[in-house]
Amino acid sequence: RRFLKTAGFAAAALVLVACGKKEEAAPAAAAASAPPPPPPAKVYVIGTDAAYAPFESQNEKGEIVGFSMDILTAVAAKGGFEIKFVNTPWEGIFNSLQQGDRDALISSITITDERKQTMDFSAPYFDAEQLIAVKETSKVAKFGDLKKLKVGVQTGTTGDEVVTKLLGKTSTNVKRFESTPLALKELQSGGVDAVVADNGVVIHYVANNPADKFKTVADKTSFAPEQYGIAVKKGNTELLEKINKGLADIKADGSYDKIFATYFGAAPAAAAAAA
Ligand code: ARG
Repeated sequence: RRFLKTAGFAAAALVLVACGKKEEAAPAAAAASAPPPPPPAKVYVIGTDAAYAPFESQNEKGEIVGFSMDILTAVAAKGGFEIKFVNTPWEGIFNSLQQGDRDALISSITITDERKQTMDFSAPYFDAEQLIAVKETSKVAKFGDLKKLKVGVQTGTTGDEVVTKLLGKTSTNVKRFESTPLALKELQSGGVDAVVADNGVVIHYVANNPADKFKTVADKTSFAPEQYGIAVKKGNTELLEKINKGLADIKADGSYDKIFATYFGAAPAAAAAAA
């Protein structure tokens, strides 16, 4: 019994000594090898074809600005993650996601079944449809009137898809351009008779270039409703969930409506009713 007590005391004493030693040793060790720096916050690289005002464009300072930027910036702020926009030509934009050069894309990308095969989309963040731009003097009144005309589109867009379908796959009258502004410049110079592109961009361009004397022609029966989504690489549920959560949050707290009104002058519901 006595032996046990002594042994117990000795063991306790050893523990105390060990603890004391540890306490002394710890600061010394920390000083010797500097504390590890906090890991740098991941900055998600977001690709966008910044030639699509008012959704995504470059200002005089070269900064990427627009409705899409404001939306994703608000989403990221809500979700507590960091993003950086990188101008990425439309031509290679989906490939840049596939290759991992971009973590996500926000570029007025219409969610389509075909695209869903190769990438994942967020919940929709904007409703759109195709719209025709022609010269003020044009007799074009509906989409079908373009059948025998030269029509400018941005390569690989939904505008390209619908026009190719109307004019035929082999038609040389479909004039494809790297960007939508380039197609619209060609309309001005007379190289094409019409341009088909997303309504928001066409309306913005026509309003801001009055000297071009363009008008818009809507055709609700010919064009299907489209919705823009933010694309991530297939299977990147981690980022997709953050984006979807943020989108739901900014829709719920009114910041989505505020951003929408800054660009389009009214809340989404009112704008839709007016259209
Ligand atoms: N919404 C159309 C599409 O997805 C056109 C998007 C073009 N976007 C751009 N930034 N150029 O095909």
